[in-house]
Amino acid sequence: MKGILLAGGSGTRLYPSTLATSKQLLAVYDKPLVYHPLSVLMLAGIREILVISTPSSIPALQSLLGDGSHLGLTITYAEQQAPRGIAEALIIGEKHIGNDPFALILGDNVFHGAGFPRILRAARDGLDGCALFGYPVSDPERYGIGETDAEGNLVSLEEKPVNPRSSNAITGLYFYSPDAVEIARQLTPSERGELEITDVNLAYLKQGRARLIRLGRGFTWLDAGTHDSLLAASQYVHVIETRQGVRVACVEEIALRMGYIDAENCHRLGTRMQNSEYGQYLIQVAQMAA
Ligand code: TTP
Repeated sequence: MKGILLAGGSGTRLYPSTLATSKQLLAVYDKPLVYHPLSVLMLAGIREILVISTPSSIPALQSLLGDGSHLGLTITYAEQQAPRGIAEALIIGEKHIGNDPFALILGDNVFHGAGFPRILRAARDGLDGCALFGYPVSDPERYGIGETDAEGNLVSLEEKPVNPRSSNAITGLYFYSPDAVEIARQLTPSERGELEITDVNLAYLKQGRARLIRLGRGFTWLDAGTHDSLLAASQYVHVIETRQGVRVACVEEIALRMGYIDAENCHRLGTRMQNSEYGQYLIQVAQMAA
């Protein structure tokens, strides 16, 4: 399975913080926001990742993530010239996807919860069409909302419904069969001039090939698109990390645990950053694994 990390956009709700940098590079407490979606792809067992971003943000993302080899990944980059919608990522990523199923994740989404790797693997194994991930929210009229039957098949999908049929918000993680590219190619832009990912999902819904995996209430899903939600994400990560003594979305640790790098490499990555607690943590994790 391939991965696409969509890390473009204009981040206007975060102005002036995003006037000179990408939202995805802003810090969520102790690490850049983009580590969160990257860690989800890694936990899904995905090692070939295309990062799509704006022409101005790609150099900075590149200097952060490089070619991914230090994490045992292959990371490549492609430009989205203007924020013409999330579904445009499928067209930009066509060559990268080839004939493989793929996961698309939005660069500002934070997922955290027990058993996530197992949920991701299950979604990956049974994939035909699309698998979406739903999360219960208190304000469903602000989101894309999905409704399922008893088997987890998606039966309705509505954007910002006035009378929501469920409280399951569609999160920014999508698993697709390779024919999603063809579906995206046939879309017409919405009123706001964007290729909407909801339209791809609705096409699969019509074909009876859409599933919605419900992430339960014991799970956390946050998007960090506003100052308040970015602060909430930082506070969440801070609470978990200081209470448990483990780190959330620590990509080097995940690479080690997934067997993508060995303890020696993890130690080296920690040494590079040993003045920070994050670096010290990597050294500790590497020593325990050695
Ligand atoms: P949004 O939060 O919808 O848009 P944005 O990041 O431009 O922010 P704002 O609304 O404050 O102006 O985007 C969600 C994620 O998807 C975010 O990580 C950016 C990414 N994205 C793209 O990379 N390209 C796009 O065309 C769109 C619409 C979003």
